[in-house]
Amino acid sequence: MSENKKFNIKLFRRLLKYVYPYKINFIFLITAAISISVFSIVNQYLLKIAVDKYITPKDYEGLIFIISLMFGVLLFKVSFQFLFVFLANILGQKVVYDIRIKLFRRIISFKMSYYDRSSVGRLVTRSVNDMETIASIFSQGLFMIISDLLLMFSVLVVMLILSIKLSLIIFLILPFILIATRLFQRAMKTAFNQVRNEVANLNSFVQERISGMKEIQIFNRESIEKSNFIKINEKHKNAWLKTVWYNSIFFPVAEISTSITIGLLVWYGGGLVGFSDSSITIGTIFLFIQLSQMLFRPLRQIADKFNTLQMGMVAANRIFNILDTNDFISDTGNLKLKKINGNVIFKNVDFSYEPKNSVFKKFNLTIKSGEKIAIVGSTGSGKTTIINLLLRFYEINGGDILIDGKSIRELSIKFLRSQISLVTQNIFLFADSIYNNIVLYNKNINKANVISAAKEIGVHNFVKKLPGSYNYNVKERGVMLSEGQKQLISFLRAYISDSNILILDEATSSIDTKTEKLIQFAISKIIQNKTSIIIAHRLSTILNSDKIIVLDKGEIKEMGSHDDLMKIKDGHYKKLFELQYQKTELVS
Ligand SMILES: Nc1ncnc2c1ncn2[C@@H]1O[C@H](COP(=O)(O)OP(=O)(O)OP(=O)(O)O)[C@@H](O)[C@H]1O
Ligand SMILES: [Mg+2]
Repeated sequence: MSENKKFNIKLFRRLLKYVYPYKINFIFLITAAISISVFSIVNQYLLKIAVDKYITPKDYEGLIFIISLMFGVLLFKVSFQFLFVFLANILGQKVVYDIRIKLFRRIISFKMSYYDRSSVGRLVTRSVNDMETIASIFSQGLFMIISDLLLMFSVLVVMLILSIKLSLIIFLILPFILIATRLFQRAMKTAFNQVRNEVANLNSFVQERISGMKEIQIFNRESIEKSNFIKINEKHKNAWLKTVWYNSIFFPVAEISTSITIGLLVWYGGGLVGFSDSSITIGTIFLFIQLSQMLFRPLRQIADKFNTLQMGMVAANRIFNILDTNDFISDTGNLKLKKINGNVIFKNVDFSYEPKNSVFKKFNLTIKSGEKIAIVGSTGSGKTTIINLLLRFYEINGGDILIDGKSIRELSIKFLRSQISLVTQNIFLFADSIYNNIVLYNKNINKANVISAAKEIGVHNFVKKLPGSYNYNVKERGVMLSEGQKQLISFLRAYISDSNILILDEATSSIDTKTEKLIQFAISKIIQNKTSIIIAHRLSTILNSDKIIVLDKGEIKEMGSHDDLMKIKDGHYKKLFELQYQKTELVS
């Protein structure tokens, strides 16, 4: 309730800026609102004339004329009503369309650390649900309130002009209606809050169970989950029933007060008809009855509309907060080299994801053009972080990273990333065909390129066997493919791009021998002629590299060829090798 009092003018103005491009629409809307009020009142006034001038004196010809006139006015009124609803909804959708694009543009360009801090569910809710709430400001809130206020104001003016005495009757009843409405709305607000909570509970319950379906089935939790669901469903139903109950009480109460008003108007007004000092006619009483309805009806609903408006404003505030977030990697560098040779130098690099939790301190690493580097090290030692920094997913805190002698901060981010192919640990594929996942809508690559590349790295036969081969749709996140298959696709994607630096963060999950062979072959192919930085888990990749770097807690402990490193007594690599690779992989 306190929210209603905190109507934020600044926020509202900012929202109205989005209406500005549609000002013609806006002007038509206001015109329609005014016309609806005018025509509504004119129509009722014509009724008064019909009663006084034609029905009472029994002038039927005149009556037909006035009824035709009323019909004409009615047509105008409903046309404007149509226009009003239509334009209000269109305006809402147009505004939301524009804001949504702006929001998405922003969301898609934030730096990685922003996503580390934000919940995916929340961002999705912002870009979908909150947007609809903003749309309802226009389709159900703002203009409806303006239109209602206009109508109520005009009704009051007309009433006072016609008869102060009869107006007083209306004013007598008004407080009762206001109080009843207020009580009803308060009750409804609490009830609706409960409903919303229960809907959220239902949603998250169902969503979580569907995501965890395997766990439910393997642990035989079906019947427990069913009874949990019944409980939540019961609460949801009860919350709704409360609103039904309030509605069923309120409308009869409203009906009674309206009828009492009519009764009083007829009784008191009727007594005044015919007296010479009174201008009140039977028509006036008819008119007042109609006007009182026109006053009470919007009155009952206006608070709801304010609520809609307020909820929209809260949503708009949340959206604007995201739009005001400037969490970007600064892209001030505009250097674009002709071609990157692939000399990479990490110079005294300091980095931490979170303050105080340093991952690298004065980290140094030199990779020469064309070199094939394997990085090994225990989990959490900083292997993936090296890649994150090189690709500027995260910004270094100190030192510099140079490619071909140029600081990566001087290069344009787009250029930098286009020069590096990346195959990550968890491969992400879009819900699209294999072909599109490989070329990513790059028009310089055609089907023939893809097929010959696929043959070169030995994945063509595997793709060919899939239903629809390159047109096979892998669905969301590539669920239609196994982990090994996804890797093969991403190798092809990396192979076909003409970058000179390849980064491969090998997945740890083990894969069947046949796919493993395919993968080993593909890797050996894609690292040819490229500077390769491979976070290696496979013995074969390690053995094929020019240089092995052993990382531990953000520090390079050892560096050299496999044979060199195996010679170090009690060396990190030697231990790691004996522990991880010798037993498992050499056997197979
Ligand atoms: N997004 C993040 N936010 C905060 N800390 C992070 C983030 N990503 C990684 N870290 C931390 O940084 C350190 C290095 O992580 P990194 O991902 O580079 O390890 P890794 O060597 O790739 O490990 P793995 O072999 O398990 O992939 C870890 O201590 C990790 O907890
Ligand atoms: Mg990693």
